[in-house]
Amino acid sequence: MSNIISPLKRVTVKASNEYQILIGRGLLARAGELIADFIPKCKIALITDDTVDALYSGVVEKSLISSGYSVIKFVFSHGEQSKNLETYGKILNFLAQNGVTRTDCVVALGGGVTGDMAGFVSATYLRGIKCVQMPTTLLAQIDSSVGGKTAVDLPAGKNLVGAFCQPKLVLCDVDTLSTLPDEIYRDGMGEVAKYALLDKKIYSLINGGDYQIEDLIYRCVDYKRQIVEKDEFEGGLRRLLNLGHTPAHGIERLSNYTIPHGKAVAMGLNIVVENACKHGYIAQSTKSEMLSAISKCAGELTLPYSVKDILENALTDKKRSGDSIAVIMPYGIGDAREVKIEVSKLWGYLT
Ligand SMILES: NC(=O)c1ccc[n+]([C@@H]2O[C@H](COP(=O)([O-])OP(=O)(O)OC[C@H]3O[C@@H](n4cnc5c(N)ncnc54)[C@H](O)[C@@H]3O)[C@@H](O)[C@H]2O)c1
Ligand SMILES: [Zn+2]
Repeated sequence: MSNIISPLKRVTVKASNEYQILIGRGLLARAGELIADFIPKCKIALITDDTVDALYSGVVEKSLISSGYSVIKFVFSHGEQSKNLETYGKILNFLAQNGVTRTDCVVALGGGVTGDMAGFVSATYLRGIKCVQMPTTLLAQIDSSVGGKTAVDLPAGKNLVGAFCQPKLVLCDVDTLSTLPDEIYRDGMGEVAKYALLDKKIYSLINGGDYQIEDLIYRCVDYKRQIVEKDEFEGGLRRLLNLGHTPAHGIERLSNYTIPHGKAVAMGLNIVVENACKHGYIAQSTKSEMLSAISKCAGELTLPYSVKDILENALTDKKRSGDSIAVIMPYGIGDAREVKIEVSKLWGYLT
């Protein structure tokens, strides 16, 4: 559907459940009317964090109620430290105590933490109830609200318990980005940098610099759509979306998760690009283009740890098998592939 100039952009994902992602302005105030096309009148469990609650719950609740839904609300403390089994359990109990049934619906209003945790609740409560995602961070709008990966963290690591469960609808209200602190916005741009290396159209948008944020979100979501449609459960192709993520996970771990995910991804991309050039996968000129795109997105970044330390933490990554590790290697702008490389040559810095 060619809707680039239409005020409301629409991406249809044909996964195990077909659903739409609507991208535009003022969508939260129209949430009830927009949801009504997909979800029959029911009880809606609105799940959000305290920061987003203060900013956006009111407008969403009002709209849902005026469209005939009844609304209950669960609010948790913002931040990754809430994305755990304890909060997850509290939400499940809250749904049960409020008599939420299988015909009711969860709405995840917030960033990736809310989306991942509320998504996992919807995947598991009563063996699965409907979920609508209303992402309010750039990272959640371009990435985490789309594709059906849901999870909470364990003390042993991030996202260790979860399920694949596609939402029924995603409403990306771009207006919500106006209240995002710059740092959190930039964090989302770290994931945008990943898409810029994976897709030539997104690279051109970033390189040109003159784009509407709706167009960028649309491009990222549409790129993710075509990957998810071919490989919903990450058997192969979907792993391309992990570009930069192996070193990123090492960086996140080393920082005890104080370095946010998107920023760690941008740092990880820098490492992977340097390594790809060193090992002859990309030319020097391509490396320069890639590094420039990453810094246009995420700014100039200084690695806070040695690559050796990052490497050692990356080695506990689940993608390791024997003496080699599977990483996503850039071969050119718009071309990345999974390769197995020997641990001793990882990132090229230890050879
Ligand atoms: N499921 C996936 O495919 C996927 C992909 C990438 C990342 N993730 C997960 O996403 C999480 C990170 O997401 P995130 O960066 O959105 O974090 P987040 O949800 O913690 O949001 C970041 C901060 O921004 C605040 N906030 C949210 N929206 C706001 C707004 N509009 N205005 C002002 N403040 C706002 C939140 O309260 C929070 O403090 C991680 O847990 C990561 O593992 C999941
Ligand atoms: Zn990521």
